Amino acid sequence: MSSITQDKVSIKKIASTRIHEVDFNNLVFGKSFSDHMFECDFKNGEWQNPIIRPYGPLTISPAAKVFHYGQAVFEGMKAFKDDNGKVFLFRPEDNLIRINKSSKRMAIPEFPKDLFFEALHKLLELDSAWVKPGVGNSLYLRPFAMATEVGVSASPSNEYKFIILLSPVNAYYSGDVRVLIAEKYSRSANGGVGFAKAAGNYGAQFYPTNLAREKGFQQVIWTDANEHEYLEEAGTMNVFFRINDTLITAPTGDRILDGVTRKSVIALAKHDGITVEERPLSVTELVAAAKDGSLKEIFGSGTAAVISPVSAFGYKEKVFDLEKQENGYATRFKKELMDIQYNRSEDPFGWRYEV
Ligand code: COI
Repeated sequence: MSSITQDKVSIKKIASTRIHEVDFNNLVFGKSFSDHMFECDFKNGEWQNPIIRPYGPLTISPAAKVFHYGQAVFEGMKAFKDDNGKVFLFRPEDNLIRINKSSKRMAIPEFPKDLFFEALHKLLELDSAWVKPGVGNSLYLRPFAMATEVGVSASPSNEYKFIILLSPVNAYYSGDVRVLIAEKYSRSANGGVGFAKAAGNYGAQFYPTNLAREKGFQQVIWTDANEHEYLEEAGTMNVFFRINDTLITAPTGDRILDGVTRKSVIALAKHDGITVEERPLSVTELVAAAKDGSLKEIFGSGTAAVISPVSAFGYKEKVFDLEKQENGYATRFKKELMDIQYNRSEDPFGWRYEV
């Protein structure tokens, strides 16, 4: 039985492609965008006028609420091309579910599933040439929603835009990452928005991250806001610790992003028979493990960064270096994950979504 769905997304194509202007071998993350974008407005209580149109500027009032109260959420997704030219997304429904959870917390109306998937299919069909084959190449998708109603009263907007941009990318971090454990600043608190991909969650990290950079670290490992004792996330990534052969990561909840890569790593590890503990890990335990040699690896996970090994962490003016693991968990999970993403292996989990 086939289900018939009515097309809702209209298309206005570009006159000529810009693809030849892009140097795909020297991409800076998130700086180049494909020919088309998706745009949809929320007005009078409903999402309307879904359109795919040439990538380009928006005209928005300077009084739009997003500029004053940061009422905005976003997602990060990736499309991959296999050696036969087929394009796949990775667990796209999880991104839709999460942006709608983030939206609910930010009082933004949820986005309909049928429109989301129709937009993804049409965009990726039109801009398929922007998804380059080869492991490491991908097309980063940036869906986001923002408050566009004019008015600076501090109340939720009645109007929004939902947009999807497509950006060809290579690696997010070029090498291993050095991280500084937060002793003063916090990313999230109980009852807050830490679990959501709210734009302000990221903006609020910039200042403490700049301070960490001045000390020679690329990212901050965020700790709990009460005691700065429990390890939560690393910059824009979830974070994993390998102590002996056990993989430990903070449990999700109010404060931690339910990362798609995070939960994929947990599933891969369990599938490989590795013990995984989703539990609070204290800095005290981490430092003790670094000192007695049982701390083998730290790595971050995220859509943009995939899996990023940490080479050292700083805490209370001390630096703890981690020995490079050629065949460690980070290398293994990254390969297993990418083999699934690029259609180079079986997908026992059903994560691959052919477009
Ligand atoms: C992602 O991994 O998609 C992120 O959210 C990172 C982004 C802030 C660059």
